[in-house]
Amino acid sequence: MFRRPINKVKPRVLIDCDPGIDDAIALVTAAKYTEILGITTVAGNVSLESTTRNTLALCELLGLDVPVHAGAAHSLRGQVVTAEEVHGDAGLGTLTLPTPKKNIASDDAATYIIESFTHHKNLHLVALGPLTNIAKAIEREPNIVNQITDLTIMGGSARGIGNVTAAAEFNIFADPEAASVVFSSGVRLKMIGLNLTHQVQMGLSESKRLTRHNSVISRTVAELLLSYQSLIYSGNLAKTVPMHDPCAILAVSHPEFFTLSDRNVNVETAGTYTRGLTLVDERRVPAEPNCRVGYEANSRQLIKLILNASMT
Ligand code: BDR
Ligand code: CA
Repeated sequence: MFRRPINKVKPRVLIDCDPGIDDAIALVTAAKYTEILGITTVAGNVSLESTTRNTLALCELLGLDVPVHAGAAHSLRGQVVTAEEVHGDAGLGTLTLPTPKKNIASDDAATYIIESFTHHKNLHLVALGPLTNIAKAIEREPNIVNQITDLTIMGGSARGIGNVTAAAEFNIFADPEAASVVFSSGVRLKMIGLNLTHQVQMGLSESKRLTRHNSVISRTVAELLLSYQSLIYSGNLAKTVPMHDPCAILAVSHPEFFTLSDRNVNVETAGTYTRGLTLVDERRVPAEPNCRVGYEANSRQLIKLILNASMT
């Protein structure tokens, strides 16, 4: 299995998420390779109530004693876009976890984000869902962007690959106005989009390995994987699924396995067919960069890392 170089310090992270099957696998991954300061939740794959319940339940499963702050129940414009067809009605496919014992630390994720970055240095922000909580924090306290070591988002895409629409990726499509606030805020931003996450696929052979390993976590991740495949491909388990959210965590803990380039990226908020598109300027003489865009992933190493984290 993968061995961490002896002196590698785990990065400290605040995670904003909407579990979500791949968010759940991302939390398993983050529990292994990062020091989690706290977690904020947002409506996205399923309702805020479900993403928050799932986060609390996953923390208990993983033995993570960190504060969980609930955030936005809808987008900045008051809309709710969910993806039960991909994540199941409760958000974790067929997986049911015991009712969590711990409660949320607050229902004001934006304030928690502001306070965390006001009081902590060397703290990374990782966003795995729609960017509503983070946009609210930036709108309330614009100077916070200078305190954030970096913000890594799973969202958007270079080269025009969408999943909700032909043009738009889910996390951006669910709240394009929030994404626009974030992309134009001046925060040190890394975009791990569909063009990269589609390179990191897991499927039946990985779920079989995890089932054979037979620990509570490995069996849980195996079930999550099988559910994800089954929901996305209507029961066909032969096809593999992209590890969107785990890639964003690993871009922070293991940047050596990613190739990124500085780019100017704008979020389309108005287009009839393109609302939610991340428009990446790839011209020979481009506009001033505001983002580091992920292009290549060392998929073999990243899959090893996810498996290693899941075999805890
Ligand atoms: C993103 O959307 C959600 O469905 C996943 O959890 C991931 O964050 C992929 O487009
Ligand atoms: Ca997500």
